[in-house]
Amino acid sequence: LNVELITLNITPIMSKILVTGGAGYIGSHTIVDLIEKGFEVISLDNYGNSDKEVFDRIKEITGVAVYNYCVDLTNPAAVDMVFQENTDIVGIIHFAALKSVEESTRYPLLYFQNNITGLLNLLACTKKYSVNNFIFSSSCSVYGNIATLPVTETTPFGEAESPYARTKQMGEQILQDFAANNNQLNIIALRYFNPAGAHESAIIGESPTNKASNLVPVITEVAIGKRPSMTVFGSDYDTRDGSCVRDYIHVMDLADAHTKGLEYLLKEKNTSNFEIFNLGSGEGATVLEAINAFEKANQVKLNYTIGPRRAGDVIAVYSDNTNASRSLNWQPRRNIEQIMKTAWEWEKARS
Ligand code: NAD
Ligand code: WQD
Repeated sequence: LNVELITLNITPIMSKILVTGGAGYIGSHTIVDLIEKGFEVISLDNYGNSDKEVFDRIKEITGVAVYNYCVDLTNPAAVDMVFQENTDIVGIIHFAALKSVEESTRYPLLYFQNNITGLLNLLACTKKYSVNNFIFSSSCSVYGNIATLPVTETTPFGEAESPYARTKQMGEQILQDFAANNNQLNIIALRYFNPAGAHESAIIGESPTNKASNLVPVITEVAIGKRPSMTVFGSDYDTRDGSCVRDYIHVMDLADAHTKGLEYLLKEKNTSNFEIFNLGSGEGATVLEAINAFEKANQVKLNYTIGPRRAGDVIAVYSDNTNASRSLNWQPRRNIEQIMKTAWEWEKARS
């Protein structure tokens, strides 16, 4: 016993966090923030939409080598093994999922299989290994086509616009039912609006192995010449300049929100064991404003044309982020110019 006490006294207590999808875009930026705030991190990622090189880059920024289990979350035995080897995990941030809206309409079963089975396998381990703190990557896509802006968390789910969005709605519902049945487990679901930008070092950023279709990576790929031009999808919407309105949120502000969310759970500040927070800037920008912000921040002209509307696009959506601000003490600190600047620095560094 004495030996144990001495060991406890001299060993710094680090909270070990499992990050699923740690090699991915938001996961890798969050790992950097977690390490900088003193957490110990292990990752689980099958590199389905990422590359193992990102862990060298995380080490370059933080000085810390993060171990990644190259495991598929849909394999229950392999997931269980990760927990068997790490019985000291105190919290999970669950990013791993397939995320392409368009692909999900072509392969709905793949999306349900990956995103739902992966979540269920992970939850089974939280119970078996008594891991009581869980953060889920949700999305503003759970709201569907919204009539009232800004969007608060009490806005009911709209009709899901894609199988992908439905996996996020179902994920939240599963978590809500699981939390009601398991009062040891504390869960928060974070609904991201439009994540964009890169780490200020330009050492990590968005580098999916699948072809980019989101606005900011399309903009930077046009600017660097990987694509000859881009299309603004629609200029006849009922918005201030006719193009769609979105709420772009810097990925490092998102990372900070995850760390704050974890601290909130670990300090037992939550008022219920299933809570939901919007993570957005709270402001909407049109597609044309986003393009202008890029051109202004970087002094680079973009080659774009105005084209027809893209099927399935919501006209306008932006967040009310009051709850995250009040409960998590989180405020976005970077604006759209900083999003465009860091995205561009990253594009130049990786090209
Ligand atoms: P990403 O594709 O860059 O990262 C996801 C990571 O999860 C990838 O590295 C992938 O290899 C891994 N992964 C996927 N399925 C897996 C499986 N079965 N087993 C192990 N690893 C697996 O995506 P991201 O942009 O970082 O998104 C992270 C999370 O945030 C996702 O859940 C996504 O749905 C959600 N989200 C993203 C956005 C966005 O626009 N980027 C917006 C809202 C919500
Ligand atoms: C933004 C705006 C386009 C490309 C998606 C998912 C959502 C969430 C975030 C995961 C739209 C316009 C784009 C281009 C353009 N992800 N655009 N030309 O569709 O708001 O949201 O990512 O949860 O669920 O649906 O993001 O970046 O694709 O588009 O004009 O070449 O840019 O029409 O108005 P979206 P986006």
